[in-house]
Order: sequence, then C-alpha cells, then structure tokens
Amino acid sequence: MPINAVVFDAYGTLYDIQSVADITEDAFPGYGEIITQVWRIKQLEYTWLRSLMQAYQDFAAVTRDSLAYTLRMLGLDYEKDAFERIIEKYLHLDLYPDATAALTALKPRKLAILSNGSPDMLNALVRNTGLDRLLDATISVDAKQIFKPSPAAYQLIGEELGTAPEDVLFVSSNPWDVAGAKSFGLNVAWIERVTPEAMALACVETELVAPLTMFKAIRTQMDELGFAPDHRVRALSELPGIA
Ligand code: LAC
Repeated sequence: MPINAVVFDAYGTLYDIQSVADITEDAFPGYGEIITQVWRIKQLEYTWLRSLMQAYQDFAAVTRDSLAYTLRMLGLDYEKDAFERIIEKYLHLDLYPDATAALTALKPRKLAILSNGSPDMLNALVRNTGLDRLLDATISVDAKQIFKPSPAAYQLIGEELGTAPEDVLFVSSNPWDVAGAKSFGLNVAWIERVTPEAMALACVETELVAPLTMFKAIRTQMDELGFAPDHRVRALSELPGIA
C-alpha cells in the first residue's frame, strides 16, 4: 500500500508539551509539575467538552482557559505577565530530538500537521522551530470549528492534500487521536513513548504517584475504544522504516 502523505499530530507528537515545565516551575516555584499536568489534562478536556456542547472556541482560547482553571484551582495569585510568559512557551515548544531528521527522511512524501491548534499558534510554532521548511501543509481543525477526534477534523487531510485516507499515514502519540484517526479510516502509527511496564514501575516506585506519572497513566496508554493502531513505534525515528 503506497503511503504518499504522512500527517502528524502536533502537541505531544512532534512537540514536547512537557517542555513547558521549566517555565511553569520558574513562575510558580514548587508548583511547576502539577500546573504542567493539570493544564494539559484540562486543555484536552475542554476541546472535547466544547465540541460536544457545540460551543467551539479556538485552541488558543482553550489553552488560556485551561491554564486559568489550573492556577485558580491551586489558589495561586499571579500577575498578567507571569500568565503571558507561560502561554508564550506554547509558541516555542521543544521539538522531540528526532523530529527534524525523521521528517527529512520521509521526504519526498507529502508531509503535514493536522492539529487542534489554532492557525496562529501552529504557524508560529512551525516557523519558530524550522519545520516550515519541511512541511507541505499545516492544517488546523479551526476550519471545521470542531476538535479532533471528530471525523470532520480528519476529513481536512483529504480536503487539503487531495489524498485518499488509505494513502495517508497518520502519526500520533495521543491514544485518543490514534483511535479517532483509525475510526475515520486512516492508516495510523502510534508513538508509544511510555510502555505499560514503565508505567507499572513508576506507579509502585514511590508511595505517592507524582502528577507526571498520573498524566502518563491517563494520557499515554492505549485507550479501550475498540481501535488499534496499524503500527506501534517507540520514536519518530522509526517512521521511515514503516512508511
Ligand atoms: C494536537 C493536540 C491536541 O492536535 O495534541 O496537536
């Protein structure tokens, strides 16, 4: 089966969302980890709630609202500057170290991002990290005013790239996104960065389960939604071997 386009999820797949942790810790010493984890959990939750409520607001708004929720939940007072400094990091997230080389090796296939991110956020992020030189398209669900895993969001791939679902390999580390893309009919590779073995160890290692461990338990293990990926890889660097 010829794969002529490889389409990536952005946050958590090409970009390390945990890379906000230094800034959250710097702004709120001692709270960095809990802020980082609750923020991301709530951010995703708000995308799904807004989609179900048919009350779309873009990912920039959802990202701000979920950070505001997190800081309020912790009872933290803050200046506008501290809030903006944390939000700004979303435009400069770290790429996973193997991302640029993997994308380069996947050429000459069409390469694109399909993300819940708003167009402004995604365009700034790919420009700031040099991926604009490698990507043929940066596709935002904003065009459909609904978030992944709605089928309408995955449909944008065909509409933007002119590809049939069976010719596309969709790549995500987010299990809910893997299930959504599979349900839509795409070929899917799951980046399984955290194995169940590592999970089991992390959960018994200490008396208290750390926020990052809880995040991994909730968001990095394959979901029971009845859809399995076509490929399981551990890192982006393995993709050229399967596409
Ligand atoms: C993305 C997120 C939400 O669509 O991971 O990039």
